[in-house]
Amino acid sequence: MQHTIAVIGGTGKAGQFLVKSLEDRGVNTRLLLRKNGHDVCRYEDVYDVLTGCTAVLSTLGQPKGAPPIFEKATANILRAMEAHGIRRYIAVTGLSINVPGDKKSLYTRMRAKMMKAMFPGIIRSKQLEYRLLAKSNADWTLIRLPFIVQANITGALKVSETDCLGKKVYAAALADFMIAQLDDKRYIKRAPFVASE
Ligand SMILES: NC(=O)c1ccc[n+]([C@@H]2O[C@H](COP(=O)([O-])OP(=O)(O)OC[C@H]3O[C@@H](n4cnc5c(N)ncnc54)[C@H](OP(=O)(O)O)[C@@H]3O)[C@@H](O)[C@H]2O)c1
Repeated sequence: MQHTIAVIGGTGKAGQFLVKSLEDRGVNTRLLLRKNGHDVCRYEDVYDVLTGCTAVLSTLGQPKGAPPIFEKATANILRAMEAHGIRRYIAVTGLSINVPGDKKSLYTRMRAKMMKAMFPGIIRSKQLEYRLLAKSNADWTLIRLPFIVQANITGALKVSETDCLGKKVYAAALADFMIAQLDDKRYIKRAPFVASE
């Protein structure tokens, strides 16, 4: 059976590379796009887009001028996945998010502190996203990122479950990593950090 993958945030810095990588591999996709009138905060839109899909990938980002969306978006995605019987969910977040077992270096903690000072509401909403996932029955992976560089550079990422091992991640390498998770059970219900260098 040919898989169909739902993508949320496919027009963003990370998402453009993700959609292109999926297309290059000939994977069928269904995209939830604001330019098509979709809104991840409207449950019906998420339910519609996920129809016929076998997994969901999200590179959703915070829209300007709106209240933080991550908790609402995640609740809608998990509910629609359950309604459709979809198990696999792979999403990205920032390195400020705390997970039990973390051993963040001073450098990572400083970067997280700066992000929290600059975007307190967004980081709170992203932490609530993690909490929703942790409580859910879905086979989720929440990938924690440093700065995204929009470059068509691939290659293995440095992956750690306890600390971020680099300053940036290349968007094409991140896309490869996200797609590889579709067939990899290692990070199910985990929140690994990834970095290119
Ligand atoms: N950029 C970084 O350096 C960086 C670093 C660490 C972590 N992260 C995290 O990684 C994620 C992706 O980052 P990014 O920089 O690629 O994000 P981005 O460029 O801001 O893209 C955000 C995406 O989400 C979509 N979106 C926003 N609100 C939506 C809504 N209500 N319904 C449906 N789609 C919506 C946007 O659609 P439109 O095109 O219509 O706006 C866009 O496709 C974010 O959660 C971010 O916090 C980013």
